Amino acid sequence: MSPDRIVSPDAMTGEPDPVLRPQRLHEYIGQDLIKERLAIFIEASAARREPLDHVLLYGPPGLGKTTLAHIIANEMGVDIRYTSGPAIERAGDLASILTNLEDGQVLFIDEIHRLARAVEEVLYPAMEDFALDLVLGKGPSARSMRLSLPRFTLVGATTRAGMLTAPLRDRFGVLIHLDFYPPEDLARIVTRAARVLGTDIDPSATVEVARRSRGTPRIANRLLRRLRDYADVRGDGVISQGIAEEGLDLLEVDPYGLDQVDRRMLFALADRYNGGPVGLETLSAAIGEESGTIEDVYEPYLLQQGFIQRTPRGRLLTPMAWRYLGRPEPAS
Ligand code: ADE
Repeated sequence: MSPDRIVSPDAMTGEPDPVLRPQRLHEYIGQDLIKERLAIFIEASAARREPLDHVLLYGPPGLGKTTLAHIIANEMGVDIRYTSGPAIERAGDLASILTNLEDGQVLFIDEIHRLARAVEEVLYPAMEDFALDLVLGKGPSARSMRLSLPRFTLVGATTRAGMLTAPLRDRFGVLIHLDFYPPEDLARIVTRAARVLGTDIDPSATVEVARRSRGTPRIANRLLRRLRDYADVRGDGVISQGIAEEGLDLLEVDPYGLDQVDRRMLFALADRYNGGPVGLETLSAAIGEESGTIEDVYEPYLLQQGFIQRTPRGRLLTPMAWRYLGRPEPAS
């Protein structure tokens, strides 16, 4: 993916914006049903003096999976250990992380769908029985030994729940699907972030940022920071609607939140394939983006907004996309 893509929902630092990240559930804006469920499960487990059941957070990048993991730990009053699927190379690495946990702690594993199979197998007894199965020796004289682990809550995050193996998915007691935020919630997130940053922003400008943030708080917060720069240099420091529009145009984020890569994809579908259907791999080769990135990052928002459709034969432009591109829809 283009590393300089301003509307990329990927974290640029690997962790969410620590200044803007809400710390407690009541500060977290939107996703009301998720907050209510989590509050109940956390209160119930605290009352029973048990760790919260393991939680799987899934959904497109930038919607708050890592933030929620931190909030869960804060609400339970415990520390969080942070790692990721690709960072745990060997079974022994995970064994060492698990044995070093303290009772009740949260272990956060980002990109949990990328765990190696041998590592995943260590996780099963750990999640189920808080146990670590060690095999001592080799061949016929090998013996297995079970060590008990501290009780912990695993919080796993993935952009693709479908890529988890069934045995891993089945061991999570709480499944949370995060979806894109409606513009009203994003506007509230931008208002809160501006207050935290000490920046003046007009309500109409928060609406403009919200509209162009592809339903994604991480993008909204990033656009806000860039607009603060723009307002400081080109204006009087206040993010008015005019400043917001000019700044966002300069960043080439259009009124629908689409950027060059989205447009390249839509134009490729229109111009090269007459609107499709086109298979994912073909599209990936046509625009020079990895198919996994298209699936995880670009496509979910384009699908949700109704620019493209996914059919068994491939991706298809919708009438709305043809209107957006300013092209007549071909007669089928
Ligand atoms: N920053 C990022 N996501 C947020 C959310 N859901 N609520 C408040 N601030 C946020």
